Amino acid sequence: MGVQVQKVGTKSFAGQKPGTSGLRKRVPEFQQEHYTENFVQAVLDGGLGSKKKGSTLVVGGDGRFLCKEAVNAIIQISAANGLSRLVVGQDGFLSTPAVSSLIRNLKVDGGIILTASHNPGGPKGDFGIKFNCDNGGPAPDHITDAIYKITTEISSYSICRDVVVDTGVIGHYEFDIEGSGKFVVDVIDSVEDYVELMKSIFDFPAIREYIKSGSGGSELRVLIDSMHGATGPYVSTIFNDLLGCNGSDLLRTVPKPDFGGCHPDPNLTYAKDLVDRLKVGEVDMGAAFDGDGDRNMILGKNAFFVCPSDSLAVIANHIQCIPYFKNRNVVGFARSMPTAAAVDLVAKKKGLQAYETPTGWKYFGNLMDDGRIALCGEESFGTGSIHIREKDGIWALLAWLQILSVQKKSVETIVREHWAEYGRNVFTRYDYENVESGGANLLMTFLEASVNASKGKELSANGVTYKVALTDNFEYTDPVDGSIAKKQGLRVIFEDGSRLVFRLSGTGSAGATIRLYVDSYVSPDDKTKLNASAQDLLRPLVLIALDLCKMEQFTGRKAPTVIT
Ligand code: G6P
Ligand code: ZN
Repeated sequence: MGVQVQKVGTKSFAGQKPGTSGLRKRVPEFQQEHYTENFVQAVLDGGLGSKKKGSTLVVGGDGRFLCKEAVNAIIQISAANGLSRLVVGQDGFLSTPAVSSLIRNLKVDGGIILTASHNPGGPKGDFGIKFNCDNGGPAPDHITDAIYKITTEISSYSICRDVVVDTGVIGHYEFDIEGSGKFVVDVIDSVEDYVELMKSIFDFPAIREYIKSGSGGSELRVLIDSMHGATGPYVSTIFNDLLGCNGSDLLRTVPKPDFGGCHPDPNLTYAKDLVDRLKVGEVDMGAAFDGDGDRNMILGKNAFFVCPSDSLAVIANHIQCIPYFKNRNVVGFARSMPTAAAVDLVAKKKGLQAYETPTGWKYFGNLMDDGRIALCGEESFGTGSIHIREKDGIWALLAWLQILSVQKKSVETIVREHWAEYGRNVFTRYDYENVESGGANLLMTFLEASVNASKGKELSANGVTYKVALTDNFEYTDPVDGSIAKKQGLRVIFEDGSRLVFRLSGTGSAGATIRLYVDSYVSPDDKTKLNASAQDLLRPLVLIALDLCKMEQFTGRKAPTVIT
């Protein structure tokens, strides 16, 4: 007789709607009885549909608090639902890019990622569950909608409490399940597959050589901050063992359930320690990655900040430096709408297509699967390519190092030369985190009307005037399957091409985060502006935006939480 399947009665929980990137809530919310089980059941039913019985999934997470418990629940619920196999990272640990790579390499039916990405972790922090499809990418809207619908109607879930796997030990575990037969759990090395993928994309010997002597004949020092997130073990293997970086230059590489108390988001505010160390000027380059390893921040010597919109454009411009692309037909690039359009200018010059999608990596999936783009990126520190279907922090750093190894120039020189050639799409983002939801929603409602009313008007601040050419709430029609995503951000576009974009974040777990994005183009001929500070250049537009949305009145906030 096989292991018994137990059917457990439950009631639905409100609010299990996946956001920009899966379901994210505070840990105590997930700890409520049946809460996680309900959602996992809905993920299996909504994510796999009629393929559920007999299917295989990859499972892993960024090591944050609750990951192990959630992995066990997924194992037991999958067993009871007739799945045939799970491939689980050792200790339930896998970075988000590693999960995407495994799904593709093993050609399985999808994966479940346990992470709240860049949100803090620990018992009072955030947790999250995300479903990825068989292409390795985050589930598109019609699937997350199906999952959500199931969570609102659920009355029971199935579980095999006697299926117990020690995920700490690599191995092959088999169970005989009542009614469905064999169920397998393969616990695998968390790092190996991803490292092999990176070795197949980049010229590691060339990068190693450059690190050894690329800084005027002496070692190129790269300071890498894993922020106690998922990249640590991958960073140690790749940058220390294989590429010869100093072990002491690899920071916070031990994953911790609470990220050591830090906010694992690689930006100028939360990765400030790295920025400060770079400012001393002894190190040639810096990089930081987020909790689950898909975001990246790149810094040059003296903490020269590479704006993510520029990072994408620079990699696109030098794509032929990366061996993986040498024998591939590169036909286009994509960026999310709030991302500044620097990459569009590269596409134009090279005669390639440029796509503009809503915020969320899932919107790049169809473009990649359909062979329309080779690279894509977002202002939110996301950069990636068709090697997987998630953004990829370590890949982005390796791409930069490969470019440096060919160009033999510093990060700053490469960026400044880029501006001198294409002009500069100056960008800034203001985040107002943890705003009271009522106020944030009111602000957006009021703002939609003011945005519409501003069409054709002149708006001024600090003695500078901009004329509004176009306003809308961004809508996207997917060119591959024709699906439509509405209300993806309020836009004010001025006659000179400068833009204001307002949207509510879809990745928070409590309260609301209002994002204000501002960008403006500086032509290569305008030598003074080309190298001025982004904050100075964009100040009048920021003031116009803050006045238009009445930020302080609605939120009580005088200043943003984070400025990028
Ligand atoms: C995650 C997603 C990205 C998205 C970012 C910000 O990292 O994978 O695709 O750009 O969150 O989303 P948000 O809705 O918080 O602005
Ligand atoms: Zn992330």
